[in-house]
Amino acid sequence: MCEYIVSGGNRLNGTVKVQGAKNSVLPVLAASLLCSGESIIHNCPDISDVAVSDRILTSLGCTCSFADGTFICDSTDAAGTEICDGLMSEMRSSVIFLGAILARFGRASLSSPGGCELGLRPINLHVEALRKMGAEINEEHGKLVCVVPDGLHGCTIDLSVASVGATENIMIAATAANGRTLIRNAAKEPEISDLANYLRSCGADINGDGGTVIEINGVGRLHGCEHTVIPDRIVATTYMSAAAVCGGDVFVMGADANHLVSVIPCFEKMGCYVTSGREGVRITSSGRLRKIGTVRTGEYPGFPTDAQPIMLAAVCTARGTSVFVENIFSNRFRYVSGLTRMGADVGVVDRVAVVNGVKELYSADTEATDLRGGAAMIIAALGADGTSHIASAEHIDRGYERLDENLRQLGAKITKEN
Ligand code: EPU
Repeated sequence: MCEYIVSGGNRLNGTVKVQGAKNSVLPVLAASLLCSGESIIHNCPDISDVAVSDRILTSLGCTCSFADGTFICDSTDAAGTEICDGLMSEMRSSVIFLGAILARFGRASLSSPGGCELGLRPINLHVEALRKMGAEINEEHGKLVCVVPDGLHGCTIDLSVASVGATENIMIAATAANGRTLIRNAAKEPEISDLANYLRSCGADINGDGGTVIEINGVGRLHGCEHTVIPDRIVATTYMSAAAVCGGDVFVMGADANHLVSVIPCFEKMGCYVTSGREGVRITSSGRLRKIGTVRTGEYPGFPTDAQPIMLAAVCTARGTSVFVENIFSNRFRYVSGLTRMGADVGVVDRVAVVNGVKELYSADTEATDLRGGAAMIIAALGADGTSHIASAEHIDRGYERLDENLRQLGAKITKEN
């Protein structure tokens, strides 16, 4: 068990390079199972969820290596069809392997996925879609046992919710299926287009990603390719939020402002000055923030649910009242009790949080309840008076590469200890 130790009050200045997107690389690594030959994935973040993917791929018979930001997976000799419970429970994205294993081997066996506890996270849409494509899926002793008697076939799938993971699972399975698959009400997140770009580089025929209807014409087996993962928009938001709270001038190198269209105006409302160019996004803040009114999370290009805790932590010391409405997950305010322990005035009723800005936060011993909730604790602690201890750092390390080093480089006082 690790903890972050953060002493607040330092201004942040300088440049931080944003890592590759966790939510892109995880489905890309799962999809690499469909390729014969090597997938060479650049800008791969060094995070624990990637380490779990590495272990899953290796357990399925792939040969993997990861060094200097490049992950190489050769799945030529893959043969496994089962993911053990231990690996399944470590991250939500393990379910994305279902489509890939079924498409390659015609059978799969895995238990329910783990991941952050953000309320109910069913996988019914994944299962229903794969069934429609020809898979027989049964639950036996807590495991999903899946077989495809006559091969996967294309079909039209109307998603009742524009689920990111279900869209990815269907896209991956459909590339190897017979015929055409249409996904209606598909997720539009940039990570979907990144997966589509990777699959196209491997020989897949996919159109319409980034819009609500995605068409996939099955091509059978894919070949390897080289692919560079897009920058992580939530990690970029995290560094911007840290700069906003602490005050200072921070350049987030590599951040793509096009992916931050709903986030940048929030920083501007808070009184920060944001500029962007091809190289990245720069934020300047006096550290004295204003309320941001009402923020409603939504599907892309709406305000990302993953940025909600990170932005909420920033407005705890802003002048005035801000409101957050969580529309994606049923229980994504668990981290708020940690903020109130630091003196924040936040009231939560169901899916709405009302934040009355206080003059300052003070240090406390808190805990990362989940990945982004943990990031929220770090941001609050960076702006607080005194030294805070944030336990269960492993939640944060699932998605942030060298967070302490990067923040230290900007002038923050933060260390990670066992
Ligand atoms: N849903 C269902 N049935 C399903 C699938 C989803 O009802 O079969 C519901 C969920 O319960 C939720 C909504 O649909 O209420 C959206 O869930 P979605 O499937 O889109 O989320 P996900 O694929 O599980 C990904 C990211 C999350 C991010 C969400 C929303 C990855 C690995 N995870 O999760 O990222 O919050 O999309 O954008 O891509 C994070 O990075 O901290 C994180 C939680």
